[in-house]
Amino acid sequence: MEGNRRWWAFGLVAACFFLQALFVWWDVGPRPGSTLAIAPQARQGQALFRSHGCQSCHALYGMGGFLGPDLTNAARRVPPARLDELLQTGSGPMPAYRLGASDRAALWAYLQAVDATGQGTPPPPAADTGPPFAAALARWRAQGGEVPVDVAAGAQIVDDGACAACHRSFAVDATLRAPDLSLTFGHIDERQVRAVLAQGRGIMPAQGLSPTQADAVVAFLRWLSAHRDELAPRRAISLRTLPWFVYPAAPAASTASDNP
Ligand code: HEC
Ligand code: HEC
Repeated sequence: MEGNRRWWAFGLVAACFFLQALFVWWDVGPRPGSTLAIAPQARQGQALFRSHGCQSCHALYGMGGFLGPDLTNAARRVPPARLDELLQTGSGPMPAYRLGASDRAALWAYLQAVDATGQGTPPPPAADTGPPFAAALARWRAQGGEVPVDVAAGAQIVDDGACAACHRSFAVDATLRAPDLSLTFGHIDERQVRAVLAQGRGIMPAQGLSPTQADAVVAFLRWLSAHRDELAPRRAISLRTLPWFVYPAAPAASTASDNP
């Protein structure tokens, strides 16, 4: 009996190891001949994108800074001449880089390569164009979900109040550049949320909420973070499709030290 159990335990550990090895092998990234290999010019743009710290202000696939718009699909909406202009003169918080023409072209090639991999920030679910969270709450209730009273009160404040002027539901809006509130409790705690509301942060002004209003907003944001995936299912992304995560061998030799 004792020995039997030991064999079971051993078998389980061996199976876990085997499974993990399989997953790692699975996610090694594009194999030779894969369409994801990016051209040398785009690769050069990628190097510039990193060395100039573009990602500290701009997200790719929703990951990165949010001082500037998400650039995953920038090549689709920003003409190359506008990129040149931004890089030459800067705009608002974006500094002027004064790069040479070939570096600017390389950055443009990189943005095109990233754009070609698909959609970055997913569009908000259909019918979420009104007040930020009203549609999601309506869907939740329609499916028989409960919304506690303080959560509903907080949702009302966020939907009706000034928050909506900057924050959108379930997405970082490229033009408004305020973070997705449904992710708040994923990375900051209640004390920090209260501090942001009371004192503001960056370009967000202090909100001047009464203590009751602040409690309701906190309750709503906590609830929203907890139910985010049910309210607005996220599009699954595979690390294999992120061109800045795996660097496939372009014609030139690639090295493992390319990884961030
Ligand atoms: C300090 C923050 C910051 C850094 C660093 C930065 N940007 Fe920006 N960027 C911004 C802001 C803010 C805007 C919006 C400016 C505007 O709309 O007037 C912007 C706008 C853009 C746009 C236009 C996007 C659109 O949808 O209209 C592109 C393209 C862009 N930046 C590329 C870059 C690249 C490439 C780099 C690195 C070489 C870079 N940025 C570095 C803050 C930054
Ligand atoms: C003028 C635009 C604006 C308004 C109005 C505004 N916000 Fe913000 N908010 C921002 C920006 C921009 C940030 C990111 C600040 C930074 O770190 O640079 C932010 C950050 C936050 C954060 C922290 C999010 C995080 O993930 O770290 C919370 C929470 C928040 N806002 C809630 C609210 C609520 C609730 C309201 C309304 C009562 C509101 N905001 C109104 C622009 C705004």
